[in-house]
Amino acid sequence: MEEKKIYLSINGKEVASAPSQTILEVARENKVFIPTLCDCQNLSPFGACRLCLVEVAGLPKLVPACSTPVAAGMKIRTDSEKIDQYRRLIVELLLSDHEPDCMFCEKAGDCLLQDLAYQYGLKNSRLKGERRAALIDDSNPFIERDNSKCILCGRCVRVCDEVQGVSAIGFIGRGFQTRIGTPFNRKLNCEFCGQCIASCPVGALTSKPARRKGRKWQTRWVKTICPYCGCGCNLTLHIKDNEIVGVHSDSSSPNEGYLCSKGRFGYEFVHHPDRLQFPLIRKGGQLVRAEWYEALRLVATKFQEIKSRHGNNTLAGLSSAKCTNEENYLFQKFVRAVLGTNNVDHCARL
Ligand code: SF4
Ligand code: SF4
Ligand code: SF4
Ligand code: FES
Repeated sequence: MEEKKIYLSINGKEVASAPSQTILEVARENKVFIPTLCDCQNLSPFGACRLCLVEVAGLPKLVPACSTPVAAGMKIRTDSEKIDQYRRLIVELLLSDHEPDCMFCEKAGDCLLQDLAYQYGLKNSRLKGERRAALIDDSNPFIERDNSKCILCGRCVRVCDEVQGVSAIGFIGRGFQTRIGTPFNRKLNCEFCGQCIASCPVGALTSKPARRKGRKWQTRWVKTICPYCGCGCNLTLHIKDNEIVGVHSDSSSPNEGYLCSKGRFGYEFVHHPDRLQFPLIRKGGQLVRAEWYEALRLVATKFQEIKSRHGNNTLAGLSSAKCTNEENYLFQKFVRAVLGTNNVDHCARL
């Protein structure tokens, strides 16, 4: 059942909203920009960064837009000198204990903190926080965590828990020494889906296979479908010098930007030197390069020999979930009409 609409105003303009929405959701629907760091699509509001603070008439304090529900008649201001001062101070506080490594950082050019520092003209922070030691965890083949760049937005913790259902990581410690890590400081041993990397707004979590191979924005992007299981998740490949150097998935795709470890990290096979690129026929115990017509003729002859010697039902066909429906239709037609057997199956149940 459709929710009854309520009416409120944002920056003097009347807008309609469902009563269950937050101020941030209604602002976005109405193309009003509110900066955020800890907010992330599909994750529960966390209210950690306070960057989304807005004014609501009648309330004594600024409120976080991401976690404040709207109410009928609310009068909201999303920008004013006071709000600007608060947001600037929040960015300064974040920079006060942040390792400014933008020259070398994998995320430079695609980092929300860097964008905010640029927006507020903050080259250095007036404030000096206690720095976390450069605590780099690269004890696994896929993910590097650099806690000296972490802004404690909690996006990685929430995506691991709420989307992936793994809860491999959490907050550890107090004050300036708070960091994200695994229980009992064990080596990260999880599903390696990389959802945490994709959710991180700064350079604290990065993909090891993509390291130093080109920043995301320096690559050419090619949209495609994951070549593994039958789910067919959308991928965007990052191409540099004709080589796949990274992968991401759009949050607007049917898989909502989420991938598994194969889709996220399993692309190195594409350029592997051992990859089969042409047909090979075994001659005198050695595999020898052949032409396609030669290989296909040999296979057809062998099929005919098996059929006439042992019967049609000694043959079977197994097709791939990665073929199109039309290709799979043709394949089963070939198996039934040409090989003369109903022994045909498909790996879509992967
Ligand atoms: S995380 Fe962002 S702000 Fe920090 S060093 Fe990297 S690019 Fe610069
Ligand atoms: S890779 Fe996936 S399972 Fe592992 S910590 Fe990140 S989100 Fe959690
Ligand atoms: S690692 Fe990234 S996503 Fe996780 S809390 Fe730190 S900044 Fe946020
Ligand atoms: S986005 Fe609202 S508090 Fe971080």
